[in-house]
Amino acid sequence: MYGPTEDAERTAFRMAEKKYKLYYDNTRKKKQPRPVDLSDVTDFKSISEAYHRNAELPSGIFPIHCDLHTPIFCLESHPGFYFIPGALPVEEQCRWIKESLTSFPQPPNRTNHNAIYGPLQDLFAAAKDNKVLIQEEQYCGTNNSEVEIIENDINVPTWNFFDQSGALSKGVTCKSVLASVLLRKLRWSTLGLQFDWSKRSYNISLPHNKIPDALCLLAERMAAPTLPLGEVFQAEAAIVNYFGLGDTLGGHLDDMEKDWSKPIVSMSLGCKGIFLIGGKSREVPPLAMFVRSGDVILMAGQARECFHGVPRIFTDKENAEISSLELLFSDEEDSALLEYIKTSRININIRQVF
Ligand code: SIN
Repeated sequence: MYGPTEDAERTAFRMAEKKYKLYYDNTRKKKQPRPVDLSDVTDFKSISEAYHRNAELPSGIFPIHCDLHTPIFCLESHPGFYFIPGALPVEEQCRWIKESLTSFPQPPNRTNHNAIYGPLQDLFAAAKDNKVLIQEEQYCGTNNSEVEIIENDINVPTWNFFDQSGALSKGVTCKSVLASVLLRKLRWSTLGLQFDWSKRSYNISLPHNKIPDALCLLAERMAAPTLPLGEVFQAEAAIVNYFGLGDTLGGHLDDMEKDWSKPIVSMSLGCKGIFLIGGKSREVPPLAMFVRSGDVILMAGQARECFHGVPRIFTDKENAEISSLELLFSDEEDSALLEYIKTSRININIRQVF
């Protein structure tokens, strides 16, 4: 699409990504995030509050009223784009944060770690229990019953979680990595029909579980206002994106599904971020908006052809805006979830593929 890489670097979309991306200034004392001008970032929370107060909206934004508890805001500049501020109550946010960390990365769902480590069971629990992932060569002759023997391929290394004390006593260890490091490096998991990133297509032959019914119902409810009466959104696949401080999702299109009249239902959880919605080419200057925990974005029709991405998340106390999650995750049992989400954002985007 571009000649020299510098051209791609100079597109309007890339310039906006660079504007909001996290950079550090080194002072003599410590690394400080460089201040960024956020005055151009559309804030649907304050727009919604003002709309409830005096029924006024900025030009270019119009509401749709439906049976959700909040109006949906649309952009004249981006037909098919819908923003539902605070769509998910905080209890529901907590539920999906928990699922995103505990059950969604479980095999047969794939994650970014599959390519290196194969399927990993119970990553979140392993990180919570301070475990370490160890690579063992079958031919090293371990008799540990926790190690799965792979038939007919005795030289294939396997990766398994162990207590750190157990790990130290192993003579056959080849490589190891802390589960907490892997959790921090978890970038995506896929639910339902599995997406093959190398081919940029769904691979229906890969083993998969159906998307949980509660998530299907939620997506169906959120998508309903964008569909003609009687048409129902069928959640068939979802990608869960995990962001830590400094992580970004570069501008891209979600165009692998057959029917673009069906929206992508995109839920934000955890720390606040900036979402960019651009045009059909990267040359179109994108609109920046805040996405907070509980917000839902729907992209259907023409909006499916628009570049979008996430150049920034905020994890500092003042800007992350997760105090309601902190109240709900106050139990001892939830402390690991809270620790994670205090410095992270999760996005679940749900698709009808066929
Ligand atoms: C995506 O476009 O795939 C995710 C967007 C987001 O994280 O909000």
